[in-house]
Amino acid sequence: MEGFRVLGGEKIEGQVRLQGAKNAVLPILAAALLPEGETVIRDCPDIRDVYAMGGILKQLGCRCEMRQDEMRIDSAGLKCWEMPEGLSKQIRSSIFLLGPILGKLRRAAVTYPGGCEIGLRPIDLHLKGLRALGVKVQEDGGVIRCDGGEMHAGDVYFDYPSVGATENVMMAAALLPGVTTVHNAAREPEIEDLQRFLNMMGGRVCGAGTQVVRIEGVKKLRAVSYTPIPDRIVGGTLLCAAAVTGGEILLSNIRPADLMPVGDKLTEMGCRISREEAGMLLRAPKRLKAFSCLQTQPHPGFPTDMQAQMLAAACTAEGTSVIVENVFENRLSHVADLCRMGADIRVSSRTAVVSGVEKLHGARVTARDLRGGAALVIAALCAKGETVVENVALIDRGYAKLENTLAGLGAKIERMPL
Ligand code: EPZ
Repeated sequence: MEGFRVLGGEKIEGQVRLQGAKNAVLPILAAALLPEGETVIRDCPDIRDVYAMGGILKQLGCRCEMRQDEMRIDSAGLKCWEMPEGLSKQIRSSIFLLGPILGKLRRAAVTYPGGCEIGLRPIDLHLKGLRALGVKVQEDGGVIRCDGGEMHAGDVYFDYPSVGATENVMMAAALLPGVTTVHNAAREPEIEDLQRFLNMMGGRVCGAGTQVVRIEGVKKLRAVSYTPIPDRIVGGTLLCAAAVTGGEILLSNIRPADLMPVGDKLTEMGCRISREEAGMLLRAPKRLKAFSCLQTQPHPGFPTDMQAQMLAAACTAEGTSVIVENVFENRLSHVADLCRMGADIRVSSRTAVVSGVEKLHGARVTARDLRGGAALVIAALCAKGETVVENVALIDRGYAKLENTLAGLGAKIERMPL
């Protein structure tokens, strides 16, 4: 196992160019099954989830290789419609493969991806969407068998704007004759990015970013080279790191609109945020002020993937902050470790009440999920003394060498074997 050793007290200052967004690249990797030819994804982040997804594509018969920061995929060899047992457990996003495999081969089998650290992660909406397109779904034991022999375009209604389920239907319908309409679709920027990618390949998708996405099936798609949007969650995480250390950071290629909810909250905490020609600049005050209340919501509400990082920032802010996690049922596991560092946090169900303290102190803590782990690093940067964060493999799922990025911005942080 590896850990991060952090010596707190250094300001985070400097400029960062963000890599492609994990949550854009993962569905785009799945969609790369659809076209003929070689897809090239530029700015592909060097993170574990990307390699895990690449490994699954290879097991399905595709050619998939990373060269510098370009991932190349050729699905010509795609023959296996049955997801190998256990692969789906490796990475939850394998569920995104259902749509494109059905779209291409008209049948698919996948094992239940199962829950993860932050919740049960059901897939009922994914299956509801596919059934609305005429897919016959059989669930026996942990395997889901899909027969798309009579698939057809149609209307899909989601009870909840699920990101993954919206993306699955978009990909399943891209090669399906007729018009498919998704109602109450998720509106995240990564959905718009998938639409852009599909359309660049010759698809006919519109409405992404609104509650209604319309997909007109085409006969074939051709592979392209594509640069996904920058990672707004990595960007927001670095903004929080600068905010808690009284620092200053310029995110050079962020799309400011993607971070509006986070920028709004950090402004409420006393940060000065400006949109520069070159991106987004944050200047932090000496000490942050508490925000009144933060509620996570589907986009364009506050992103659940930034909840843990903002909770960490609230720990040393002046005043009391309230955080409500509305999206996932078990996404406050970072609280216990923050309290070990001296934070004053009360949790009841999905609500955390954070009473800001002057200073946190270093401790040995453990990452329990991807964003909770990042939150512990943020707390360690402003804590007095040394912190060791264990189980950083979870952080590596979504952050490319986070320790190098932070060290380049002035942090005293190193990776170490534990
Ligand atoms: C995507 O997960 C992201 N992952 C998550 O990022 C992100 O937190 C989430 O969207 C919400 O924004 C990727 O894009 C790879 P959902 P996804 O379906 O698609 C319930 C990170 O840290 N639900 O919108 O799984 C579900 O239980 C990760 O980068 C159902 O009930 O999210 C949850 O409560 C974590 N039935 C809510 O909807 C379903 O069939 C949101 O899930 C599907 C979801």
